[in-house]
Amino acid sequence: MRTSEPKTIRLKDYREPPFLIDQVDLRVELFEDGARVHSRLDVRRNPSVQPESELHLDGEDLKLEEVTLNGEHLSASRYVVEDSQLTIRDMPDSAVVGVVTWIKPQENTRLEGLYKSSGMFCTQCEAEGFRRITYYLDRPDVMARFRTRIEADLKRYPILLANGNEVDRSPLEEGRHQVTWEDPFPKPAYLFALVGGDLVERHDSFETVSGRNVALRMYVEPRNQEKCDHALAALKRAMRWDEEVYGREYDLDVFMIVAVDDFNMGAMENKGLNIFNSSCVLASPETATDAIYDRIESIVAHEYFHNWSGNRVTCRDWFQLSLKEGFTVFRDSEYSADQGSRTVNRIDSVNMLRTAQFAEDSGPMAHPIRPAEYMEITNFYTVTIYEKGAEVVRMIHSLLGPELFRAGSDLYFERHDGQAVTTDDFVRAMEDASGRDLTQFRRWYDQAGTPELAIEDSYDAASQTYRLSISQSCPPTPGQPEKAPFHLPFELGLLGTDGQDLELQLEGSEPSGRSMVLDITEPRQEFVFTNITARPVPSLLRGFTAPVRLRYPWTRDQLMFLISHDSDGFNRWDASQRLATDVIEALAEGREAEVDARLVSACSALLKNDALDPALVAKMLSLPSLAYLIELTPSADVLKLHQAREQVLTSLARSLRDDLHEVYQRHPAPAAYRYTSEDMAARALRNMALAWLLSINDEQALKLARSQYGQANNMTDRLGALRAVVNSDFAEARQTLLDDFYQQWQADPQVVELWFAVQAASPQAGTLPHIKALMEHAAFDWKNPNKVRSVIGAFAGQNLVNFHAPDGSGYSFLAEQVIRLDPSNPQIAARLVSPLTRWKKFKPETADAMQRALREVMGQPKLSRDTYEIVSKGLS
Ligand code: PHE
Ligand code: ZN
Repeated sequence: MRTSEPKTIRLKDYREPPFLIDQVDLRVELFEDGARVHSRLDVRRNPSVQPESELHLDGEDLKLEEVTLNGEHLSASRYVVEDSQLTIRDMPDSAVVGVVTWIKPQENTRLEGLYKSSGMFCTQCEAEGFRRITYYLDRPDVMARFRTRIEADLKRYPILLANGNEVDRSPLEEGRHQVTWEDPFPKPAYLFALVGGDLVERHDSFETVSGRNVALRMYVEPRNQEKCDHALAALKRAMRWDEEVYGREYDLDVFMIVAVDDFNMGAMENKGLNIFNSSCVLASPETATDAIYDRIESIVAHEYFHNWSGNRVTCRDWFQLSLKEGFTVFRDSEYSADQGSRTVNRIDSVNMLRTAQFAEDSGPMAHPIRPAEYMEITNFYTVTIYEKGAEVVRMIHSLLGPELFRAGSDLYFERHDGQAVTTDDFVRAMEDASGRDLTQFRRWYDQAGTPELAIEDSYDAASQTYRLSISQSCPPTPGQPEKAPFHLPFELGLLGTDGQDLELQLEGSEPSGRSMVLDITEPRQEFVFTNITARPVPSLLRGFTAPVRLRYPWTRDQLMFLISHDSDGFNRWDASQRLATDVIEALAEGREAEVDARLVSACSALLKNDALDPALVAKMLSLPSLAYLIELTPSADVLKLHQAREQVLTSLARSLRDDLHEVYQRHPAPAAYRYTSEDMAARALRNMALAWLLSINDEQALKLARSQYGQANNMTDRLGALRAVVNSDFAEARQTLLDDFYQQWQADPQVVELWFAVQAASPQAGTLPHIKALMEHAAFDWKNPNKVRSVIGAFAGQNLVNFHAPDGSGYSFLAEQVIRLDPSNPQIAARLVSPLTRWKKFKPETADAMQRALREVMGQPKLSRDTYEIVSKGLS
């Protein structure tokens, strides 16, 4: 056990800072054995709060070398250095506080603060990393102007970057040089960044709507020069989009992107100097899949959009994290929807929300999008804060409509520019601009859990009316046994017998078109539609207008009908998933022995349908993932669900063998790779057909896979072929291709990560002994989060059959790795352990074994605060 429980931080204890900082002057000297940071802070007492005589500055793992006040050395009696604080006594109303610290970036394995990644210096300060660089008021409501002078050896570190604009550079003695940067915009310390390295620079430029020219620069290691085009193109598209859709213009003369190999998260929106995990920014057709291209497109946009939603207007405290993250995810997902197929984009977001976020919201870590408390803030960068947060903003958008929403966002940016604010300020701006009352809607910010909507309907032929009743409830979550009803938009349509949308008219109202949005506010509401001449099939929650679980007793025939007729693409897909889920569950529970022929005929029709968007067809044909099936099942039996899912897959593949071959031939690879919706859809269908055929050990498909693997001009097709073979029973071909792949790509870390993940996530290739062998592989590196994620993370998160092996070996393996990683990188260790906290979802024997593994972690003497919080909450 840990010796003392970490402190819980509570929103209700928030107080304004007693001191403010107007200006920060940093001088950072980079050396081979450490770095010296000279900091000068213009500090003054905050006039709007009760004066305090002591100034407390945050600091972690710092060696303090000097403290001065207005240039004078401070005597030892005037200050105290404790574990994580520097206290200055008898602080005057205002003063220049000087602090010199010595830090060791070379030994920084946590990757928070200043660290080294493959020879370059870089920083990560969100959420509380700046205090690992120097003593500071490290809280987002303290906003200061930063001037940063970096000094380093000229040969080793020719490129020295920080936020803002470059204002000075000069050579220094002993082969060193300095570059000085100034950021005119006041910002919290979490947005500070600096980089020093031997990097190549890719230039581009962007002319803003008002005609200013912005230099765009991307900095990468020389071997990655050819992998910048996609990110730069995406950046320019995102800059234009934010001008057009939100009226937001870029505000500095230069915008920089840096790629680093060792990074805890995806990317970081530091002002003017975004830093990316290499895997989220570098791409070429030969090395990155379509999914990676999409990921880069959305993350580049996401970080860029933060310049307004996060930087110009920032968070008052970390409980408000969703203020910037929920809003920015909503913005980037709308951006992505505008680039490709809106429906397919929505399907991907909802799929991830319903699989990962719903699971989080029904587990021990469930929290509202504005949490009330935390032990370690890095644990709250969650799918709830991000994805559910985005859904909440989307609901405001649906309730207000696009024009009023835009008026609300304009007002928000104008009113709060340069401020650190709360989610409530955001909602208030939306209310003030629209005149709508969002009082009840605000419950989404402080109630956790996924609401359930139970739908009942009846048709009365005599009066030609159709009644729909909608009841809402929300299960208890930790600390919240009872929930008040939510306010949500519910879009629906009614399909007539010919499959067309009926004209909708509520009793006593004007006709309202063929799809309408209902306002749900009560525990139970009834809607009566008139002039309905025959019993309709309802198309409920079109476009997934609210993040809720929907219960309606669909018959399989109704689902078949929706699959072929619904005018809402999202709901067509949703019906296909519900049909497949129903069939799989019936098999898993032993209620049915054979795969329902209706599912086969639905898939067959889809394979032959060339009127529908092929990208949508590919999504509709994808069976619900095992993770999603588990999420839906109380007391899940993983093996039974997996076997039922496999039975459906192989029986579909057998029945549709000829159609699948035909689909494969109908979508040949074009001569050159293009990142277009059409080509991506064709690749998705082609690779899906291959995977299905290989699931039944089809020899002819193996030939196709081998030749596709050998001839592919892009990574989507190469990896698609490899994955299909790796997941098949063709053990010899699997090994040959895996060896060949590694031989060819071993010099490229991003591709090696794909190679790890395709094995670690595979039921066939990813057995525990094989996972252990991967961890012994020369390319595996404990210090690199991407490697840890692509082997251990992929095993525990995607290879559910092997992770949940009945003997519990997967669980104790994971516990062991978490314990091993915790001392060097607690943030990643805490993320890795979370699959074990989902034990309530599983049948009792499984749940017991998972808890045993958690207790093993809990028993460690020196657990980090990060891992302690997840494990202790996971056991409660
Ligand atoms: N703020 C980053 C984003 O969402 C994520 C991040 C959080 C990165 C913490 C690093 C550390 O864009
Ligand atoms: Zn973000």
